[in-house]
Amino acid sequence: MNRLVRLGFVFGLMTGAVLPLQAETDKVTNVPDSVSLFSYARADGQSGLRFAWSPDGKQWLSVADGYDYVKCDFGPWGREKKMFAPHLWQNTSDGSWHCVWTATRSGKVLAHAASPDLLKWGAQSYFTEADRQKYESASAFPTKAVQVTVDGKQADGWMQRVPYAVVEQLTRYAEHKKYRQQLYDERAEQDPVRFAGLKPVTASVEVHASDGKAISDHLIGIFFEDINYAADGGLYAELVQNRDFEYSPKDGSHQRWNSDYAWSVAGGEGSLSVATDAPIHENNPHYAVLDIKQAGAALQNDGFDGIALKKGEKYDFSCFARIAAGSKGGKVEVSLLDENGKTVGTASVKVTSTKWKTQKAVLVAKADVAAAKLALRPEEAGTYHFDMVSLFPQHTFKGRKNGLRADLAQTLADLHPRFVRFPGGCVAHGDGIDNIYDWKGSIGPLEARKPLRNLWGYHQTRGLGYFEYFQFCEDIGAEPVPVVAAGVPCQNSGTCSHHSKDELGCNGQQGGIPMDEMPAYVQDVLDLIEYANGDARKTEWGRKRAEAGHPEPFHLKYIGIGNEDLITEVFEERFTMIYNAVREKYPEVTVIGTVGPFYEGTDYDEGWKLATRLEVPMVDEHYYVAPGWFIHNQDYYDRYDRHKSKVYLGEYAAHLPGRPSNLETALSEALYLTAVERNADVVTMTSYAPLLAKEGHTQWRPDLIYFNNGEVKLTPDYYTQQLFRQNAGNEYFASTIRLDNQQDAVRKRIGVSAVKDAVTGDYIVKLVNMLPVEVTSQVKLDGISLDGSKAQKTVLTGRPADEHVCPVTESFDIQGEDFVYTLPAYSLTVIRIGQTLKK
Ligand code: AHR
Repeated sequence: MNRLVRLGFVFGLMTGAVLPLQAETDKVTNVPDSVSLFSYARADGQSGLRFAWSPDGKQWLSVADGYDYVKCDFGPWGREKKMFAPHLWQNTSDGSWHCVWTATRSGKVLAHAASPDLLKWGAQSYFTEADRQKYESASAFPTKAVQVTVDGKQADGWMQRVPYAVVEQLTRYAEHKKYRQQLYDERAEQDPVRFAGLKPVTASVEVHASDGKAISDHLIGIFFEDINYAADGGLYAELVQNRDFEYSPKDGSHQRWNSDYAWSVAGGEGSLSVATDAPIHENNPHYAVLDIKQAGAALQNDGFDGIALKKGEKYDFSCFARIAAGSKGGKVEVSLLDENGKTVGTASVKVTSTKWKTQKAVLVAKADVAAAKLALRPEEAGTYHFDMVSLFPQHTFKGRKNGLRADLAQTLADLHPRFVRFPGGCVAHGDGIDNIYDWKGSIGPLEARKPLRNLWGYHQTRGLGYFEYFQFCEDIGAEPVPVVAAGVPCQNSGTCSHHSKDELGCNGQQGGIPMDEMPAYVQDVLDLIEYANGDARKTEWGRKRAEAGHPEPFHLKYIGIGNEDLITEVFEERFTMIYNAVREKYPEVTVIGTVGPFYEGTDYDEGWKLATRLEVPMVDEHYYVAPGWFIHNQDYYDRYDRHKSKVYLGEYAAHLPGRPSNLETALSEALYLTAVERNADVVTMTSYAPLLAKEGHTQWRPDLIYFNNGEVKLTPDYYTQQLFRQNAGNEYFASTIRLDNQQDAVRKRIGVSAVKDAVTGDYIVKLVNMLPVEVTSQVKLDGISLDGSKAQKTVLTGRPADEHVCPVTESFDIQGEDFVYTLPAYSLTVIRIGQTLKK
């Protein structure tokens, strides 16, 4: 039989045939020549493609305990991603495997995927019954629909004969995956058992300082997405919630969003309604109608969890206001009220015109208030219209109007990020094509901006739009890295777009921008680059930038196209179109492609294939993984081909059960970053994600920085980012570590990276210890005399579960040619050896 299989022979048995193997079978003689392979999925659609096998067609054994070899990727999480009635067959002409399944409960959407070996599966295609023929091979190997009992449960599926080696390959593959998963699940809380009896470790660290390689000096940046109220109610300093009266039930499902959300009428006799006739701007159709029967009634805004005021600080109030025909109008008192309704700041404006007029006033807070309200109290009865009611602290970051919350922006600036990614994340590609972040709707006068439903379940005013983003990048000396949708929305979309109402087009990327609308979309992308870089007088979009107050270009050098998308035909066609257009018009701009949401799998493989074929200069990789993944994958980039696309690790974070940010997550990221620095000739940029989260309003944890209206709370992960950024270099030196303990588990928990910063001339050694014991290290920089050098060590340490740790810095002098440093248990240390270093 083995000989026959090697020759690729096929001969009939039971259902007609034995399927040939792709690879030569093992020469095991005590297994059956062929067995029955049964392929199936759970009847409720909640599994992927599974297998069982039988030597005799009677007793069935599940392969790898029901491991899912391919899972459906159609539609949104929760509702879709289902596999019903998979039909598996092999193509007789090329040996490839094919599976067609029903992807939705209604049965209206089908899916197809192919595999060379049943292990690695290619891109999935989604189609309707009418197209089934296109996906089913005429030369399919015979299979038979059967019902069998697997693990005590009846299952419907398809059976065929295969060499036993196929079962063996499937089993080994799944076992390998499960074994790796066990490694990734290793957590510090198990350390007392894992390292029971472990003695402090001794190490010698030899840095080969004469053998350097150039590495990216853009390694650490930040990922800004409006998730967790990162923008409105967060970094964007606006204090009035729903200032534009554009909140809508469509913005989210968990709160009663409406045009009057966060607004109320208090005191006197008055009522609030919302109208849309003759608005300030068509993009901002709703406004408040305040009908005062008797003076005393006020329109009040609650802010975002209240309005935090600081005693003595000035606040800029502004609004658009008019009176209704027949009303007299008059003075409107603008006040800040503390939690007891006491006025702690006041000013007034005059509203007497029936035309929209901008009103402005400055208020000074007379007290610190945690949760104040803003009140507008007309002194005369009548009907008043208000819109774009706004209150900004004058003290914004760099004092910018329409600016950013000073403390939060400063916290970001303190990271000294080399770049800022914006606007996402999923916000960039949106929930359905009508929710793609259209950058043009985020610039210009605030009242003309297009508010957008945030797919994280709330309302985006887009007051912090593209202009403010570019401005912030400039203010903190970071490169802007905008990410635009690749003509497809989020793969998890569950929203119908304007052109498609059927199940196929309403889910995931199958609702990509129709091809006849793509030229306009491509132009939008080109216009974004022109907005950033175009001449202020000679180009349309450069002119708009100048009108916004920035005639000088923003010097945009990067643009991301796509965000962890499914790499399907729908994606490839649209990505290629945008990519070619950008490359042709702006060859100097580095395009960043995308390779899916995981560190492996179909989108990763297909994304890399596409990037390699199109010679995309850089790709964006994402992975949210357990600390154990970082510990056990430090060689992830060592295997990367240096001649292919560079890597932007655009989203990553260590996730523990319960999703804390603690020392364990921070150290696992630090450990991994030492490996990334080693590979920073191929990994050009990285950004932890997500960046910001407002307490009580998080959709995603963990995040780098938590905040409320009054405080900013840094996580241990923040310090990892900060220490790596502040101590980045541009030349990397290989190093050798020798330990007195050879256990794999010990070795993998110690990380070293040595770099030189050309600007200061400093040598920097980063040392990570994820062990529960100290590691005493003798550190030597080969070829460099350290004797008499000044050095500084910054240490982040504590217990793995600590969520509040802070780095501590101390100076020391190096005496002698090397020095001994003891890494505390569970620690990150950065040693900076200064300019007094002798050559
Ligand atoms: O960072 C949070 C989300 O994670 C991003 O929006 C998305 O790209 C990823 O899935």
